[in-house]
Amino acid sequence: ISISVASSGGNATSAYQYGLMFEDINNSGDGGVYAELIQNRAFQGDNIFPKSLDFWNALGGAKLSLQNLTTPLSAALPTSMQVTGGNDSTIGFSNVGFWGFPAIAGWEYKGSFWVEGDLDGNVTVCLAGDDNVAYAEASVEVSTSSKWTQYNYTFSPTVSAPNSNNTLNFTFAASDLTGAVNFNLLSLFPPTYKNRENGLRVDLMDAMADLHPAFFRMPGGNNVEGVYPPYWWNWTQTIGPLEDRPGFPGAWSYENTNGLGLLEYLLWAQDLGMTPVLAVWSGLFLNGTFLAEDRLGPYIQSALDEIEFCMGDASTTYGALRESMGYGPFEINFVEVGNEDSLSSGGPSYTAYRFNAFYDAIHAAYPQMTIIASFYDVDGATPPFNAAGDFHEYAIPVQMSSQFGYFDNYTSAHPLLIGEYAVVEYDQPGTNEPLWTAGAGRAFMPFWYGSVAEAIFLLGAERNSDKIIGASYAPGFQNLNRWEWIPDLISFDANPAHTTLSTSWHMLELLGGTRITENLPMTITDGEYGPAYFVAGRSAVTGAHIAKFAVYNGTESFNLTFAGVGAGATANLTYLTAPMNASQPIGGNIVQTHEQTVRAGRNGVFSFKLPEYSVAVFNVAAN
Ligand code: AHR
Repeated sequence: ISISVASSGGNATSAYQYGLMFEDINNSGDGGVYAELIQNRAFQGDNIFPKSLDFWNALGGAKLSLQNLTTPLSAALPTSMQVTGGNDSTIGFSNVGFWGFPAIAGWEYKGSFWVEGDLDGNVTVCLAGDDNVAYAEASVEVSTSSKWTQYNYTFSPTVSAPNSNNTLNFTFAASDLTGAVNFNLLSLFPPTYKNRENGLRVDLMDAMADLHPAFFRMPGGNNVEGVYPPYWWNWTQTIGPLEDRPGFPGAWSYENTNGLGLLEYLLWAQDLGMTPVLAVWSGLFLNGTFLAEDRLGPYIQSALDEIEFCMGDASTTYGALRESMGYGPFEINFVEVGNEDSLSSGGPSYTAYRFNAFYDAIHAAYPQMTIIASFYDVDGATPPFNAAGDFHEYAIPVQMSSQFGYFDNYTSAHPLLIGEYAVVEYDQPGTNEPLWTAGAGRAFMPFWYGSVAEAIFLLGAERNSDKIIGASYAPGFQNLNRWEWIPDLISFDANPAHTTLSTSWHMLELLGGTRITENLPMTITDGEYGPAYFVAGRSAVTGAHIAKFAVYNGTESFNLTFAGVGAGATANLTYLTAPMNASQPIGGNIVQTHEQTVRAGRNGVFSFKLPEYSVAVFNVAAN
């Protein structure tokens, strides 16, 4: 196939082509990116997930019970764990972590806990292996008090544990306990990304940083909605000291601590250089219940307050609140109202009045803001005004690989975010099944030819990126010990050596790592799209001429020219291959990166081949 790339006549691309979407699903927030290591640290719960002593065990015959004391730690955390009795001379309790604790030599861990009651003496906190080795230990002197008091400790293992089958044990002499002692908000953090307090897990942040993401859609997905009334992702309960955050019954079968709150999301975006796409609650619960028009007012106000908290200066009420927490304003250019509202029985109310009401209020206060409806007009429903839409696509390879041209006739009147996409299961030859079958037959992890199919879909978005804002794979993470949605971009458990960057992650690292800022027209001769799909253009940042390729079922030979690039010029060709059906092994990598230098021959023609099921970036650096 011969491709001649023109030097003008193209269009500017979106600055946000590749981004991230995150919600707490698959224990990807608590037990995942949020670096807290203790599970059920503050005995949070509600009608959906009742409070419990899950993940805690008694030591030395101590008796553990949940108590709602007349003087709780805080109104938000009214329930604490009481320790009484015991058979042994040393008693206490242990936590099993999020399915284990990493014990890594040289890591500086920071811990804390709150205590009230009749304990006078030393509490030993020990990161202990199932081989009874104490990998790290701290001694904390506690005094009897009827006032809740916070104690801090640090420790650092000198030897790494062979695995993460470790527990965190809190023990003390039974003789130091003269009655009952109460504990709450017991916390332990490993080193965090950029050393932030209450911060995020380093290896997972590094994995995201390597994708050079430009936007960050959060905090849902379904998780922004809440399962049923009165639960919705109420941002006011996710800010401030941890003892003031009550938790939230997440949409994905577990209580969220809300330690990962609005500010943590904004800092996450800031630390990775991403523009936030802030999802606000739209008045719809996941069970289909939705608010009547005359009840929306307070929730629209809450969304406005939330935006003010993010962006406002110190002269505004909520901007001042954020400043009092030590943070300057964050820039917000995108707000999404709800999530997949069209999929629910509450959908008609969204188009009838809910979206318009949020839009009117947000647009009046922030006329420059891109306001995104949680549906899209590719399939017929048109967002009102100049609103953007959010397109979600979970598919099988045959479907996704055929969507290179899907957005070609899309209107530029309503820019489109592809807020979620993924190939979720293998093709099933012989069934002529054009769509994925919810639940059945899902792939455990992304697999290579599915990732190449995603690349074709993404290049289709890139070629229309004057109207497509950008795309984010979903879900982002899977805790290998507890998950409900597969496949996911990155899988992990408590042991960082098990962190697995999927085949789709590698495809995205390549395609997202090189940005075309101006798509240029191509003349194609001696062939057509399929099995190779491609876009070409230029980067105003580096001055490079760039082409990107996804090759599906068949190899392809290319004669590529860029207007203005002559004979003898050299280009770097980077392409990825992997066994067609393969997924990553835990902690391993089957994706191979090939690097090649290609020199332009007569008339500036670059000739090269790409194999079946490959993804490539071709880069001619500026002179
Ligand atoms: O990504 C998982 C879920 O898929 C999201 O929460 C929801 O928006 C979609 O249905």
